[in-house]
Amino acid sequence: MIPVNMPLMGKEEINAVTKVLKTGVLTGRLGSGPMAKQFEDNFARFAGARHAIAANSGTAALHMSLWAKDIKVGDEVILPSFTFIATAEAVALVGAKPVFVDIKPNTYNIDSEKIGPAITGKTRAIMPVDLYGLPAEMDKIREIADKRNLLVVEDAAQAHGASYRGKPPGHFADVACWSLYASKNMTTGEGGMITTDNDEYAEKLRLLRSHGEKEEYKAALLGHNYRMPEIEAAIGIEQLKKLPTFVEKRRRNAEALTEKLSDVKKLALPTEPTGCKSSWYLYTVRIQKGNLKDRDAVVQDLRKRSVGAAVYYHTPIHLMPYYRQHESYHLPETEKAAEQVFSLPVHPGLKAAEVSYVVKAVKQVMR
Ligand SMILES: Cc1ncc(COP(=O)(O)O)c(C=O)c1O
Repeated sequence: MIPVNMPLMGKEEINAVTKVLKTGVLTGRLGSGPMAKQFEDNFARFAGARHAIAANSGTAALHMSLWAKDIKVGDEVILPSFTFIATAEAVALVGAKPVFVDIKPNTYNIDSEKIGPAITGKTRAIMPVDLYGLPAEMDKIREIADKRNLLVVEDAAQAHGASYRGKPPGHFADVACWSLYASKNMTTGEGGMITTDNDEYAEKLRLLRSHGEKEEYKAALLGHNYRMPEIEAAIGIEQLKKLPTFVEKRRRNAEALTEKLSDVKKLALPTEPTGCKSSWYLYTVRIQKGNLKDRDAVVQDLRKRSVGAAVYYHTPIHLMPYYRQHESYHLPETEKAAEQVFSLPVHPGLKAAEVSYVVKAVKQVMR
């Protein structure tokens, strides 16, 4: 099976982990240990942000970002339903109400024009997601947020290496949350990162990450244990060095797929709107005029041919039981996309022959 994604680890990561194990310093009791601190500094530089705060998952990063701003019961947060569950979970975990907004059919990202009508007196934040690695319309979202004094939390979990109007994820947001999960463009196994330019916000996030403690056993406020272990940070430092090469390879694979699949008329291929550069976390195609049965049959058929095609995401969040219980939403573009999309391998471990094999298999299946 050619997997849809896979981590690429080398001797650099193995040596870095061994070194940490030999020091015996496995974590930083009050936040980040020396490796995590180094990783944060390097990541902040990469993201062009004043601060980077390492966490033990992207979900933790999202949760803390809302929590640190005291978003709570009675508040509303606007987000897309066509995303990984963690985006909505963060809202639900602070007790706020997730308000789902439909997507644009060509980018699969939140439709900025539909955000305005969803804003109420209770709205506190907007959480755009850079789905599949393609940045959301961040300048327009910033403008909407500024008019209404709302926080912008960018879910950049899939967007390492993407850019919008020449700027990295987070530039137009108050805060960006990144995942370092095993499938991502760079990984620490599990892990997350928050970037922000706001000093006060960063300080609060650092406190929340480690039980609200500035001094050991003296919690100044309610917190959690969201610290990144030193072994993970050591892997992250090495992965971050390799990220530009990884992303470049993803881009080359994506370009090859697009060139070779352009004559498959039944498929809508992914595109980058002007000013947007994808991180190519996923190469997601859409069966035009297809339904769920057609799509699932194509994915099954591809998998039988050893192409690890996969669907992100089968079920929009507003249709999941926990989120459906309080309110129903009419999100036609989201529901249509969930029935028609599937993703093909585009990761940097793919060899040219494998790209050609994927194309051949898709053409056979879509005939
Ligand atoms: C869009 C999106 N948001 C949030 C997350 C959560 O990140 P993590 O798995 O590191 O908790 C992920 C990754 O899995 C994701 O893809």
